[in-house]
Amino acid sequence: MQQGTIKITKAATSKLSTTDFNNLPFGKLFTDHMLLAEYKDGAWGDPEIVPYAPISFDPSLATFHYGQSIFEGIKAFRMKDGSAAIFRPYENLKRFNKSAHRMAMPDVPEFHFIEGMKQLLKLEDKWIPTAEDHAMYIRPFMFATDEVIGVAPSSKYYFMIILSPVGPYFSRPLNIYVEEQYVRAAPGGVGYAKTAGNYAASLYPAKLAKEKGFDQILWMDAFEHKYVQECGAMNVFFVLDGKVITPSLEAGTILDGITRKSIVDMARSLGKVVEEREISIDELVAGYKKGTLTEAFGAGTAVTVSKISGLQYKDTHISLDASSMPVADQIKQAMAALRDGSAPDSFGWMVKTNA
Ligand code: PLP
Ligand code: COI
Repeated sequence: MQQGTIKITKAATSKLSTTDFNNLPFGKLFTDHMLLAEYKDGAWGDPEIVPYAPISFDPSLATFHYGQSIFEGIKAFRMKDGSAAIFRPYENLKRFNKSAHRMAMPDVPEFHFIEGMKQLLKLEDKWIPTAEDHAMYIRPFMFATDEVIGVAPSSKYYFMIILSPVGPYFSRPLNIYVEEQYVRAAPGGVGYAKTAGNYAASLYPAKLAKEKGFDQILWMDAFEHKYVQECGAMNVFFVLDGKVITPSLEAGTILDGITRKSIVDMARSLGKVVEEREISIDELVAGYKKGTLTEAFGAGTAVTVSKISGLQYKDTHISLDASSMPVADQIKQAMAALRDGSAPDSFGWMVKTNA
């Protein structure tokens, strides 16, 4: 690991005592400090922890114009023994640097990402929520900081980490719109990268779906609009004929979700048959009609495991009973037990902030 030092400048006042931990809207409240590092002249400077505050940039900032911007989403949890642990941050580091590569951005060193996050979390330890389904959401991100409007990879970047204590992302089972017109990603594109533009491009179709009463879009493949991909902020799983199935990653069009891969491993360890493969919407509709499609759920850092009770495809409404989804329940419980330390960390996924 590239070593360095992390200088800490503490905030003069804290917002902690005025934060209502019984009412945490997702991603709207931030802790007292943030981490920041600058890349220039071909190298990263040391990260610094400073008081959380606005930052200002020149109007010509490359990110504003061409969107060279990537991010990650990670959670840290309060364990039953009072310590705090981060869920699989090394996986996020790997994915972050894959996104960076695709967007012609420099790799971020492990020290900046992992040690930076740990130090920030240690400083903000009192902010880590304790309630069930609550966590500290960690948002590392990197963006281009050249001041020039020619189209080219930037020579300068900022890497930052901010923290947001959060409660559940969704409070009820989801009603999903199967998208047939708009497309999220195509092979050769940037679907597998966690880059800002993927989210920007999803907002208009998501707004239309919301206006029709849906919570999220289920994206389909770009060519035939036939094969299931993922939702706006989560990967998807189905239970069909008793097997747990999820779209495979080969096409590079969906995000290689850390929750997704954890659920695949966990479900197998619980004795389930798991298939990662192409899934057509016709297969799901046929399974629904036969009664063999019994569960659907989304999986992601922000959403954890979120049950899907409705899927609208053309004129067919797939209606599933969210109160009877034993696989989703079992996985959700097993994940929660791992995250708060009430079950042993047999996979070695939890990284203590003080380790
Ligand atoms: N797919 C998309 C588009 C996402 O934004 C997310 C959230 O990060 C996921 C899937 C799930 O990925 P992960 O489990 O790594 O959070
Ligand atoms: C996450 O789950 O971490 C995400 O990034 C999804 C969303 C909040 C953009």
